[in-house]
Amino acid sequence: MDRILIRGGRRLNGKLPISGAKNAALTLMPCGLLTDEPLTLRNLPRLADVDGFGHLLNQLGASTTIEGSRPEDFGRVMTIRAGQLTSTEAPYDIVRKMRASILVLGPILARAGQARVSLPGGCAIGNRPIDLHLKALEAIGADLEMSAGYVTATAPGGRLSGGRYRFPVVSVGATENVVMAAVTASGSSRIENAAREPEIVDLCRCLVAMGARIDGIGTETLEIEGVAELHGATYAVMPDRIEAGSYACAAAVTGGEVELTNVDVASMGATLTALREAGVGIEERRDSIVVTSDGQLRPLTLTTAPYPGFATDMQAQFMAMLCKAAGASVLTETIFENRYMHVPELARMGADIQVRGRTAVVKGVDRLVGAPVMATDLRASMSLIIAGLVAEGETSVARVYHLDRGYERLEEKLSAVGADIERDGGG
Ligand code: UD1
Repeated sequence: MDRILIRGGRRLNGKLPISGAKNAALTLMPCGLLTDEPLTLRNLPRLADVDGFGHLLNQLGASTTIEGSRPEDFGRVMTIRAGQLTSTEAPYDIVRKMRASILVLGPILARAGQARVSLPGGCAIGNRPIDLHLKALEAIGADLEMSAGYVTATAPGGRLSGGRYRFPVVSVGATENVVMAAVTASGSSRIENAAREPEIVDLCRCLVAMGARIDGIGTETLEIEGVAELHGATYAVMPDRIEAGSYACAAAVTGGEVELTNVDVASMGATLTALREAGVGIEERRDSIVVTSDGQLRPLTLTTAPYPGFATDMQAQFMAMLCKAAGASVLTETIFENRYMHVPELARMGADIQVRGRTAVVKGVDRLVGAPVMATDLRASMSLIIAGLVAEGETSVARVYHLDRGYERLEEKLSAVGADIERDGGG
């Protein structure tokens, strides 16, 4: 199994291109199921999760063709053609490996009038139920039946009616699912307390490009007027704000100067604010950010929250960075339970972190020391890479497949800005 080997202590310097956003890609791809015309997505990241989602679409009867597969191409172009769905089922084997597969539920239901999707089960960062996805779909007219670990959703008469739903808790995935299902309903829908993440804005814009009618995009109330059918479109996936934030933390902790290019600066507010508070220089340009640091970082108090708050997907990377701050930081995780699995691994590298319930107190240390560590989930893995970049000696990160789910060509991008990092296939 692959490992990533890092010899720490090098300052990062240079330009680092940011890929298309994984989480946007995973909600834009299922939009291809909503029409019998081609949907072409540009700036698609080259990631295991995107490939996995492509296989799922293929199983449902959609074809996926990819251009730009040369190793030197960043940003692929995928055309999804779902002339006809040959299956309306997302099986356990796929959903269990990739939780985002649940995002086909709304589109299949809208297109075919019926969908059968495996319940995802547990995952590394907590329980992650799908009750809100189901309640929202029910509110816009779906009949639901659960049996043998699957949910079967049916639209009476073959088409959803539309309706009103207020989320009791903000959910990114459930908002995406209900929006994708509501766009072709026979009536209108009103979704309140909707998630406002930039990836949801990206989804809504793509749907509008396909002929959907959605008001309130980017706000917590989405009003959707159902249309008879959607048509094909070409749409560019937004840049990955979490990837950009991760590399910003890496640049900051190594005391480097890195220009992150192809960035959606407006989507990165809370991350940039936190970096500035930590003493990191941030220069915002039109579609790039220059991160400058002398490696002297101030401690922070951060609490994760739905957008526009500080993203739970940035918590682990900030924690790694703050291990080198001058003083104690307090991080509170409010979105997922069990999202501190990187803490014992960081401790093996010399970090001083105490976790009590949802709060972690990170006391800055003078030095981190390289060690063999194990990745546990996607963002936790990135925190180990960040720690490895600043640690003395060699760090080897095992279970690299977690990183491959969400970071395109990590070692290539980091080597290009001066990191001593490589992939070892034999470990
Ligand atoms: C998405 C992102 C993930 C990010 C998360 C929060 C994708 C593919 N993944 O995940 O990277 O960390 O948003 O920004 O886009 N919940 C329920 N019932 C539900 C759904 C969610 O109780 O039916 C809870 C979850 O357990 C969690 C909270 O709601 O505590 C937020 O989860 P949600 O926003 O749905 O996250 P995901 O869409 O799974």
